[in-house]
Amino acid sequence: MKNLIIYYSRRGQNYVNGSIKSLKKGNAELITEFIRDAVGGDVFEVDTVKPYSDDYMTCTEEAKAELRAKARPELKEYLDSVAEYDNIFVVGPNWWGIYPMAMYTQLERLDFSGKNVHYVVTHEGSSLGGVPRTMKDACKGAKIGASLAVHGGSAPASKTQVESWAKGAVR
Ligand SMILES: Cc1cc2nc3c(=O)[nH]c(=O)nc-3n(C[C@H](O)[C@H](O)[C@H](O)COP(=O)(O)O)c2cc1C
Repeated sequence: MKNLIIYYSRRGQNYVNGSIKSLKKGNAELITEFIRDAVGGDVFEVDTVKPYSDDYMTCTEEAKAELRAKARPELKEYLDSVAEYDNIFVVGPNWWGIYPMAMYTQLERLDFSGKNVHYVVTHEGSSLGGVPRTMKDACKGAKIGASLAVHGGSAPASKTQVESWAKGAVR
């Protein structure tokens, strides 16, 4: 069994439990490490050529405009194939209901035929939101498996939960 974790995570200013905090490590990045510790695997970070604003509120406006435009922002690096993997974990934040548009830029380029895709959404209250509805179209040919919503403010304390979820997912 070979595993891959594809993640997007935004460091810096974030909204945590009602106030703006600066995170050295993004929540989805932390969850990615928990999954890797639990089941092993390669890691691919989705990152945009054009950075989002460091300012949280400005970033939310940028993200909203991208969502409305169904933008597919350019990435610094692209993953071309997942052929060598059995399980692919997708990990990213809930931005206005679904993953950041950049996640779809990457996912839509891949052929997931016969692959198991499991996914995690970090959030501040909206849980999985509309992400489940987007996964089938985004991951062509995938068998969509387990999903998990992690409250961002509780991400550091979620290690045990994430580990047992990931172990169960790859079984
Ligand atoms: C642009 C933007 C939009 C967001 N929209 C939502 C939202 O609609 N619902 C929600 O629960 N959280 C929302 N959040 C909060 C994030 O989902 C949450 O802080 C998450 O833990 C961030 O993960 P990260 O640190 O890996 O980027 C938003 C955050 C940003 C930056």
